[in-house]
Amino acid sequence: MAFSASISSPLHFRNSNPIFSPKPATRPASLKPRPALPPPSLAPDVDSATIAAIGSGSVAALAAALSFADPERRRKLQAEEVGGGDKEVVRDYFNKSGFERWKKIYGETDDVNTVQKDIRLGHSKTVENVMKMLTDEGPLAGVSVCDAGCGTGCLAIPLAKEGAVVTASDISAAMVAEAEKQAREQLDLGKEGVLLPKFEVSDLESLGGKYDTVVCLDVLIHYPQSKADGMIAHLASLAENRLLLSFAPKTLYYDILKRIGELFPGPSKATRAYLHSEADVERALKKVGWRIRKRGLTTTQFYFSRLVEAVPM
Ligand SMILES: C[S@@+](CC[C@H](N)C(=O)[O-])C[C@H]1O[C@@H](n2cnc3c(N)ncnc32)[C@H](O)[C@@H]1O
Repeated sequence: MAFSASISSPLHFRNSNPIFSPKPATRPASLKPRPALPPPSLAPDVDSATIAAIGSGSVAALAAALSFADPERRRKLQAEEVGGGDKEVVRDYFNKSGFERWKKIYGETDDVNTVQKDIRLGHSKTVENVMKMLTDEGPLAGVSVCDAGCGTGCLAIPLAKEGAVVTASDISAAMVAEAEKQAREQLDLGKEGVLLPKFEVSDLESLGGKYDTVVCLDVLIHYPQSKADGMIAHLASLAENRLLLSFAPKTLYYDILKRIGELFPGPSKATRAYLHSEADVERALKKVGWRIRKRGLTTTQFYFSRLVEAVPM
């Protein structure tokens, strides 16, 4: 298959299945090995030239080069620069270069490269799938939803259009300001039942309150599993009925590709990406009395996102 930004494997949903196979969605055997397929926050740092180089390079050379990659050292340096840990690095990134980068990816303008365009498509599929998972259970009018790590409002806005009472927060003040701007532009606030989401600058660990539904999309990728456990537990404590989480799935295949991606940090790379195994996420949920009811997977060429809907046991 030609290396392009086309969707090679459509996302699919399935009900909770004990015999879960963490393999990526089915892919024709004839397909050439994919080039570096970094998870969401790594991918935009890889430009087309790099991809072409990776695509044509030998696996052995890549394997050798992998041993020289030291993302942990890079992360430590970044953390020292902003005087903190993962969270401070992430906050700083999404208030500065990451804000510009992701605003573009989540937007509709043409100034995106092939990879960014593909991620835009993948991410919009995730949002679509979340909306489907949520509305499958009934209309959203009047349902309280917390969108934790709301970014530019890609989910908060469609939720509000459906009449949900949305609280949207993010660790990045720049993201929250953009989300509110877009919500004011896109929502028909004169329409009955359509409310402006309540926007708040906050890291999700500090959120309080109770919501029917809590959603946290493509945020866990910025944190190691040790931190993700606590984040998942806290998000579950805010939710009365449903918790939807998306994360970059950890499988051997994605892990190798992510490591290849880490060999080519773009100039503006400022965060580390962490993959999470579905089993680890499930275990973290179980620990606080939640079980996974539905699962979905969005895969495009450069975007991989596992979506789970959890409910109290
Ligand atoms: C890849 S973006 C996803 C944005 C949004 N959820 C979406 O899917 O459109 C990740 C977002 O998570 C936010 N974020 C990262 N760590 C966070 C934390 N600890 N608490 C709240 N937001 C966080 C970032 O500022 C950024 O806006």
